[in-house]
Amino acid sequence: MKRKKKLSQSEIIASLKEQKDEVGEYEFTYDASRHEREWIVNSLGLFYEMQWFADILRLVKGGKEASVYQCLASSVSPVEGRFIAAKVYRPRRFRNLRKDHIYREGREDLDDSGNVIVKDKMLKAIRQRSDYGRKVMHTSWLEHEYKTMQILHAAGADIPKPYASGKNAILMDFIGDEEMAAPTLNTVDLDRVEARLLFERLVHNIEILLTNELVHADLSAFNILYWEGEIMLIDFPQAIFPIENHNAFMIFERDLRRICEYFIRQGVEVDHHDLVKKLWQTYNYRQMPEIDLNMLDEEDEQDRVYWQLIKDDN
Ligand SMILES: Nc1ncnc2c1ncn2[C@@H]1O[C@H](COP(=O)(O)OP(=O)(O)O)[C@@H](O)[C@H]1O
Ligand SMILES: [Mg+2]
Repeated sequence: MKRKKKLSQSEIIASLKEQKDEVGEYEFTYDASRHEREWIVNSLGLFYEMQWFADILRLVKGGKEASVYQCLASSVSPVEGRFIAAKVYRPRRFRNLRKDHIYREGREDLDDSGNVIVKDKMLKAIRQRSDYGRKVMHTSWLEHEYKTMQILHAAGADIPKPYASGKNAILMDFIGDEEMAAPTLNTVDLDRVEARLLFERLVHNIEILLTNELVHADLSAFNILYWEGEIMLIDFPQAIFPIENHNAFMIFERDLRRICEYFIRQGVEVDHHDLVKKLWQTYNYRQMPEIDLNMLDEEDEQDRVYWQLIKDDN
């Protein structure tokens, strides 16, 4: 990116309002299409002006829901490594989340400063799912992810260090090097010994979450990065509070089932039912799962059958 003169906060905001004309002025190493460039400048322009990073090097992964960019940390930013990852949310990221109320139960909606929303207008908009309400919710999910990451990082979990959040993006440690970003665990084959060690490390991390009254809620080998023999958990917007969420046990069980499926393929011997029960009891969460079988979608028929069994078992 071409460096521009340092602006005051109000100048930055004014300049961002004229985004569309300005987009052409930024020069990233990453050569985005005009449309993507606009989206990047809208989402990351302020972070650039604040000198968190000096350049956007490449798109690590662009999906339907979020795009993650590898950026070069600026010499004045407090980032520990050379690079910083910018996770930019698609506008539709949370519109399509199936049954989002299941994840939202027991958590408060947050505004763009991470404060609990108390304004009637915003709450009403959320309830009515107006365009404005959707925007507010979008920000709330993002702030929830950022707050969760802050808590977990401070608690010593293996996650990228979060640095800053904005309306549409989170900055965090980049896992990888100049050549490549860390692969997700689902693409990695481990030998048995390493698999056992990493599995234990993962359980240790899950215990850190439970200690902090959190369940990831979208945990699988797809949301774990593998780098230099270590794992890093990512992707937290859906994290739930097990104490306040009626479906917590079920969601927790699904997390553990998915990761056990991966580790069993890598040669780890584990019975995920036993592990789920043991962890849940250790942390003294509601003993009896209160399962809302209506939460399951048609394609989750396997889950439904499984859950009926667990219910009968209890
Ligand atoms: N801190 C990071 N460092 C390197 N790569 C990352 C980082 N965070 C995410 N990624 C990559 O970006 C992808 C998408 O990020 P993720 O948080 O899982 O969002 P989503 O799955 O909602 O699109 C990940 O699968 C991973 O490949
Ligand atoms: Mg993901």
